[in-house]
Amino acid sequence: MKKIISKNTEETEKIAKDFLGQILSFPKQATVVALYGNLGAGKTTFTQSLGKHLGIKRKVNSPTFVIMKSYFLPLPRGSAQGARGCFKNLIHIDAYRLKNEKDLENLGWAEIIANPENLVFIEWPENVPKALPKKHHKIKISHTKEGHRSFEIK
Ligand SMILES: Nc1ncnc2c1ncn2[C@@H]1O[C@H](COP(=O)(O)OP(=O)(O)OP(=O)(O)O)[C@@H](O)[C@H]1O
Ligand SMILES: [Mg+2]
Repeated sequence: MKKIISKNTEETEKIAKDFLGQILSFPKQATVVALYGNLGAGKTTFTQSLGKHLGIKRKVNSPTFVIMKSYFLPLPRGSAQGARGCFKNLIHIDAYRLKNEKDLENLGWAEIIANPENLVFIEWPENVPKALPKKHHKIKISHTKEGHRSFEIK
């Protein structure tokens, strides 16, 4: 596990970029990243930063009310060459308002995780623990005393 401090959103951008480098591979299923952390820890901010690195032009807003948002990833070009890797879609889920795994199933979760072209970020994974594939990435973000953010990446 790696612990990194982020003093501001620019530093989170850097953490997101490095993390992206670690997870680009050729999986058989969707790549799922569970984002843990209290309200306002910076889970959405991290996902926004990642989306930016993947070339998404539209703003990646918090999916708290819509639960799930899907972004088509542009083909890599220029300096972003290779950044998209094997992924075609970024799927951002906020499970805050979900009661359990059943709510997620109703959103088409089985198809989402079966597709290796999906990169899935899920906030509040604690609400749907059994839905997470055995192999998934975990990031825990917490506030520090100084008002910074601490990232633990597993
Ligand atoms: N590294 C950081 N340093 C300072 N402020 C940050 C950092 N990351 C995020 N913030 C700020 O914290 C606030 C909340 O961030 P964000 O919406 O990403 O949290 P969240 O974990 O998604 O919260 P929620 O559980 O409500 O969805 C935002 O105003 C954001 O700009
Ligand atoms: Mg959020």
